[in-house]
Amino acid sequence: LALSTKTQSMTTMANDEDCGGNLKRQLGKLFEVSLRATVPDENVEPLIAACSGNFGDYQCNNAMGLWSKIKAKPNKTFRGPPAVGEAIKENLPPSNMIESCSVAGPGFINVVLSTKWIAENIQKMLIDGIDSLAPRLSLKRAVVDFSSPNIAKEMHVGHLRSTIIGDTLARMLEFSKVEVLRRNHVGDWGTQFGMLIEFLFEKFPKFEDVNESAIGDLQAFYKASKQRFDTDAEFKDRAQRAVVRLQGGETKYHQAWEQICELSRKEFDRVYQRLGVHLEEKGESFYNPFIPEVIGALRNKGLVEESEGAQVIRLEGFNIPLIVVKSDGGYNYASTDLTALWYRLNEEKAEWIIYVTDVGQQQHFDMFFKAAKLAGWLPSDNSTIYPKVSHVGFGLVLGEDGKRFRTRATEVVRLVDLLDEAKNRSKAALIERGKAAEWTEEELEQTAEAVGYGAVKYADLKNNRLTNYTFNFDQMLNDKGNTAVYLLYAHARICSIIRKSGKDIDDLKKTGELVLGHPDERVLGLHLLQFAETVEEACNNLLPNVLCEYLYNLSENFTKFYSNCQVVGSAEETSRLLLCEATAVVMRKCFFLLGIVPVYKI
Ligand code: ARG
Repeated sequence: LALSTKTQSMTTMANDEDCGGNLKRQLGKLFEVSLRATVPDENVEPLIAACSGNFGDYQCNNAMGLWSKIKAKPNKTFRGPPAVGEAIKENLPPSNMIESCSVAGPGFINVVLSTKWIAENIQKMLIDGIDSLAPRLSLKRAVVDFSSPNIAKEMHVGHLRSTIIGDTLARMLEFSKVEVLRRNHVGDWGTQFGMLIEFLFEKFPKFEDVNESAIGDLQAFYKASKQRFDTDAEFKDRAQRAVVRLQGGETKYHQAWEQICELSRKEFDRVYQRLGVHLEEKGESFYNPFIPEVIGALRNKGLVEESEGAQVIRLEGFNIPLIVVKSDGGYNYASTDLTALWYRLNEEKAEWIIYVTDVGQQQHFDMFFKAAKLAGWLPSDNSTIYPKVSHVGFGLVLGEDGKRFRTRATEVVRLVDLLDEAKNRSKAALIERGKAAEWTEEELEQTAEAVGYGAVKYADLKNNRLTNYTFNFDQMLNDKGNTAVYLLYAHARICSIIRKSGKDIDDLKKTGELVLGHPDERVLGLHLLQFAETVEEACNNLLPNVLCEYLYNLSENFTKFYSNCQVVGSAEETSRLLLCEATAVVMRKCFFLLGIVPVYKI
C-alpha cells in the first residue's frame, strides 16, 4: 500500500505512455521541453545517449549542434556551446527521474539518474510485470518473411539461420506491440514441379499409394527425378507438359502437387517444432493469380519494356535489368516478390516488410525494392518513413575447415540431425554431472532440449548477422564464455538463490522495499531498466546481437553484484532478493525474445 501511493505521486515513471520503459526517450521528453524553452525558434530533436563514464548515466549532446545553428544570428543570447549547455540544463523541468546534471567540455550535459527512482521503477516492474516496460514503436503491423525453404529441395543451414533470426525479430516486434504476420514464403511453384509430378506418377501409378514412408527422403526423390529429367528426353518432354497442365489447373496434377507440398511441409514442421517457431505459410503459389494484374499495373506506369523477348524493368544503378516476365512468358522469383510486396502493402496493410535471407540475395531485394519505389508503392526515402521494406541479410555458416558447412556423409547438413546432436551432447554433459540420478527422465530431456537448442540459436544470434560464423558444437555447448549454456546456468543459479532463501518472493514484492545501496547494485539496477531501450534499438536496426550483448552484460553485472554483496542472511536480504528476482525476470524475457527456453535448476 505504501508503495502504491508513493508511485502515484511521481511525475515520471519507467512506463511512460508514449515511451514505454525506454529511459532514453523519457529523458528525451524532458530535454525536449528544455530545448523549446531555451531556443524557442529552433526545431531540434533531443540527442540523448547512454554513457558509461564517471560523470553520468546519460548525456544530452545538443549544445554544440545548436550553437553552430544560432551563432550567426544577430540576437543570439549565448556565448559559446558551454553556455548553451548551461541554459539547457537550467531549463529542464523538475523530475524525480534526475538526480543531478552537469555541463562538461564543449557543452555536453551529463545526467545522473536518481538511484531512488531506479529502485522504485524496478520494483514497479516486478509488480506490473515486465511487459509494462515494452517499448512503443510507431507502427501497427509488420510482415516478417523468414525461413522460406523450397519444396522438395533441401532445407539447409541458411534456412536455419533465417528461421532463428526471423523468429527473434518477430518476437521482439510482437513484444513491442506490433502485430506481426510471420510469413513462410516457401518456394512451392516453378518448373521443377513438372518433373517431380511425372516422377511421382511413374513410381506410384496408384495415387493412393503415395505417402511419406513410401517416398522416403524427399531430397533423394528430387535428385532421382532430376537425374531422370537430365538423361531421358522423353521424360523431359512429359515433365515440361506437366508444368503446363499443373498451371492450367488440371485436377490430377494439382493433387500430385498438393501431395508433394504436404510431404515437404511435414519435414519442415519437424524442424519448426524442435525450435518452437511458429510460421504461417503463404508460399509463392499463393501470389500467382495476382501476378498478371500487378505486372499490368507496372506496365501502365511505363516501367516495363521489352528486352530480348523478355519483359524487364530497367533500374538506375544496376547493370542488369529486373526481369518480370521471362521470354517463354512465364513468371519468376522477381515477379512473385513484386506481387507479394504489393499484396502485403495493399491487402494486408503492413507498414514494415522485413525479409530474412542470406546476403547472397541482396541484389535481388535491392532491385525489386527499387522497382517498387519507382512505381510509387513506397516512399523513396527508406530510412524512417513507413511503409518501408528491409532486407535482413546474414552471412554463411562455416565448418571447422573454414568452408561452407557440410557434413562428411552427405553434401548437406540435415537440420533435424543437427538439432538432435546438440540435444544429445547436452544430455550427455548433464549425465556426466550426475543429473540422471538427481532428476526424472523428463526433467533431463527437457533441460537437454532447452540447453541444446538454445545453444544452437544463441551461437547464431550473438554475432552481428552479417558476419560468417563457424559452427562448432564444443564451443556453443561450453558452459563458460558467451554461450547460452553459461547464461542458462546463470539464470538457474539466481533462481536457486531465491529458492534457498525460503522467502515468498511474491510477498516481498508487495511488502519489501528495493534499495540500491551498493555501487554494484546500482550498476545492475540501471542495466535492468535499460532493457526496453535495448529491445527498441534491436528492433529498429534489426540486430538480435544487440539483445544478446545486453543479456551477457546483465549476467556479468549480476555476477559482480553477487560476489560483492551478500544476499541471504544479510541486513539487506529483502532488497537484494528483489534485485535477484528482477534480474531473473529480465533474463527470462531476453531468453523468450531469443526463442530460448529457460531452465530453473542445474
Ligand atoms: N525460397 C527462397 C530461398 O530458399 C527464400 C525466399 C525469401 N523470401 C522472399 N520473399 N524472396 O532462397
